[in-house]
Parts: sequence; structure tokens; C-alpha cells
Amino acid sequence: MNQTRTQAEATAVARLEVGGKNVELPVVVGSEGELGIDTQKLRQLTGAITLDPGFGNTGACQSAITFIDGEKGILRYRGYPIQQLAERATFLEVAWLLLEGDLPTKPQLETFAGEIRLHTMLHENFRRFFEALPKDAHPMPTTAAAVGALATFYQAKETDEQVRISVIRLLAKISTLVAYSYKHSIGQPFVYPRNDLDYSTNFLHMMFATPCEDYTVDPAVAKALDLLLILHADHEQNCSTSTVRLVGSSHANLFASVGAGISALWGPLHGGANQEVIEMLERIAVEDGNADRFVARAKDKGDNARLMGFGHRVYKSYDPRAAILKQTCQELRGRLGSGGKLLDIAFRLEELALSDEYFVSRNLYPNVDFYSGIIYQMIGIPVNMFTAMFVLGRMPGWIAHWLEMRKDPATRIGRPRQIYVGANERAYVPLSSRG
Ligand code: ACO
Repeated sequence: MNQTRTQAEATAVARLEVGGKNVELPVVVGSEGELGIDTQKLRQLTGAITLDPGFGNTGACQSAITFIDGEKGILRYRGYPIQQLAERATFLEVAWLLLEGDLPTKPQLETFAGEIRLHTMLHENFRRFFEALPKDAHPMPTTAAAVGALATFYQAKETDEQVRISVIRLLAKISTLVAYSYKHSIGQPFVYPRNDLDYSTNFLHMMFATPCEDYTVDPAVAKALDLLLILHADHEQNCSTSTVRLVGSSHANLFASVGAGISALWGPLHGGANQEVIEMLERIAVEDGNADRFVARAKDKGDNARLMGFGHRVYKSYDPRAAILKQTCQELRGRLGSGGKLLDIAFRLEELALSDEYFVSRNLYPNVDFYSGIIYQMIGIPVNMFTAMFVLGRMPGWIAHWLEMRKDPATRIGRPRQIYVGANERAYVPLSSRG
């Protein structure tokens, strides 16, 4: 795949004094004017390292895929504003854009979609893989294990052509794997992919059809799903994408690297938040529908309740994806007539939080997960599948980053350092003398 990228030029220096030594470090400037102090020589020149738990100030790479300005609420894939892609593109167009760097021409898109269709089937041995798991297995570890297991079916030497085919296979088979993990959890037979359907319609068909009767996917539901996938397709160096890059930096193959990313996404502070949001809304609905009391709990430092779907490491203003999804919730409610009570509670929570000093002073706004779960629920996706839906959307982003990382001559194996704070050297004490 054609990956064009540029390296930012160093245009200035930062001066630093450490332990009486003065050093000058290059300052690089990104294409949107972002500044980065290049500390690659810092330890060599001063003996000191940078310490940045959570990597809030640490750039691990230069990337040409996604630009976010969290202060201004801007998100662009390869330069295209997320609002325009959400309104006009399809998920497969966006997947191509992320992977290739440009929007596809019509023939390119047709070939790409055709190749993906050809690879949606899973090896029949996968049936036994699913059978070996408990019936109530959560789809996230199931999906992570299944993606890792793809590496056992495709073990050819990693040439450029093999990597290209792995990319197509992964994009194609992930929808079948996610749908099968759901079918397994409810004890229904697997429904084979249908090559006459588009990506999102085929996925919904595999999820909800049974061999007993015809099932037609509502085009409005397929469109809503396509939108959700587009909005989740990439988000630069988040926890799961950084995991994919870190694992891939050891030259682990694509399936192994993405399997690790899926595990990272599962956590409730990352992709797992969409499930937590709906559970929070349902708890509030069951208790008494009182959003005010929940907001008070979320502010109370003695209470471990958080307003799930609120706050973001990068966005310090309204997440543009949440704004699009909020509007979609309203449109779908009108059309499908579902989601009523939970959506009202969500609107009330947002209204309260956005006028509350606690949330305002900390720049806490709804993130993508605040409304995505409500839409998933409206279109019939069960709650424990929400994070697996995120996997489906994020797949092109993970792959684009893995490819970019592998092609970047600046990539080295990811190996952070630490400041050691443990015991100083001491002599071994024999067991018999330890009291
Ligand atoms: N509810 C209540 N308080 C919050 C929330 C929240 N949702 N989020 C942050 N805060 C508070 C923190 O308690 C902290 O307060 P303090 O300064 O008084 O100590 C302050 O806001 C800063 O929060 P941090 O946790 O330090 O921010 P960080 O950038 O480390 O975490 C995170 C970001 C994990 C997203 C956090 O906001 C959170 O837990 N949100 C809820 C979970 C969630 O929605 N996650 C999905 C993120 S989007 C995604 O991954 C797709």
C-alpha cells in the first residue's frame, strides 16, 4: 500500500540545563504548527531521561494519518474534516483513505470493496475455536483471541504482498469474527457472510439473520452503523493504537499486534466506556431517573462514580464525534421510535454537567462514547457487544498506524525507560536467617 509521509523539519532549538550541563535540543514543527522538542539525544548528552506517566507530553512518532486539535475540537483524517467524511463518505472509503493517504477513485474503491468481500469467510476450523469458549464469553476477549489466532492460519513469510493480503483479510474477517462471537454467546448458528451486501449491511445480516427465515436489514440502520464505524475509524496515538504500534515495533505480525490493541481497547477507561455509559444510564433509569443525583456523585471524590462518556485526554472542548452522534440520536429516535428514556437522561446529564463548575473548570465534555451506546442500542446491538463494535470501526486506523510504523525509518523497538525508586543494593539473606 502506498504510504506517503513526511518528516517534520527541525527549525529551532530548545535550551535546557541539567546538572550544570547546557544542551540544545531540536524543536520540530508539524504541518499544523504543533511543536515537539526532540529529546532523542537527551540521555546521551545529560544522563537524564524525560518522565511523563500517561505520556501526556510525549510524542512517540511522527504520523501523517490523523490530526486532532483537542482545544478547538478538530478531528481530521488525512486532512479531511470528520464532519465531511461523516456526512458524505462510506466506511470503506474512509478505510482506504486512512490506509492509502487519499480518497479512492471509483475503480479503486470497487476493487478494494470486491477484495474485502472475497475474504470475509473464516476457515471452518474457527467453529471449533468458538466451541471451546464458554457460552457467556465476553465478545472482547473472544475477538482479541480470534484475531491473534488468524496468525496461525496465515503464516506465510511477511513480504509486501503478504502484508497487503493480511490487511485485506483482517478488514474482511473482523466483521465475521465479531458477528460470530455474538452468535456464539447467544447459542445461535453462525450466519455466513453474503457477498452481495455492502460492509455494514453484511455485518448486520450476520448478526441478526438466522437460517430459519429471511432477514432484511433496514437501510437506515445500516447507514447509522456505517456512520459509527467512520467516527471510530482512527484517533491517532490513543491507548489501543499505541499498543498496536508498540507490539508491532518488535516486528510482531499484523494479527498479533492488532490482537493486543483489541485487549487495550477493552478497558473501561478506553473503548469499554461505551458499555459503561449505557449501564450508567440504565442504573439511573431503574433507580429513579434522577440525573442530578448522579452528577453529584460523579463530582464527589469520595465516591468512585464517574460520569462515563465524559472527559478526554486530548479533547478539552466538545468532541466533534459526540456532536455528530448526538444529532444522529435525535434523527434515529424520530425514525425508529426507540431510545426514549435513556436519551432523555443522557441529554439531562449533559445539560447539568455543561453548566456545572466542576465539569466546566476541568474541561469535561461528552466524548464519542457518550452517545454511541444509545445508537447501538437503538439499532439492536446488545450492550456487551458495544466495545466489539468499536473494534470493527477502529480496525482501519490500527492497520494504517501499523503500516506507517513499519515503513518509518525512524521506528525503533518501543522500549520506555523508568526512574528506579526501589531498594538500593543489599546482600542476599539465606532463608534460615530471615526470622
Ligand atoms: N467524571 C467525573 N470526573 C472526571 C471525569 C468524569 N468522567 N473525567 C475526569 N474527571 C476529573 C478527574 O477526577 C480529575 O479531577 P481532579 O483534577 O480534581 O483530580 C480531572 O477531571 C482530570 O481527569 P483525569 O482522569 O486526570 O484525566 P485523564 O486525561 O487522565 O483521563 C479519561 C481521561 C480517562 C477519559 C477520563 O476523563 C475518564 O475516566 N472519563 C470517563 C471514562 C470515559 O468516558 N472514557 C472514554 C474516553 S474516549 C475513548 O477512549 C474512546
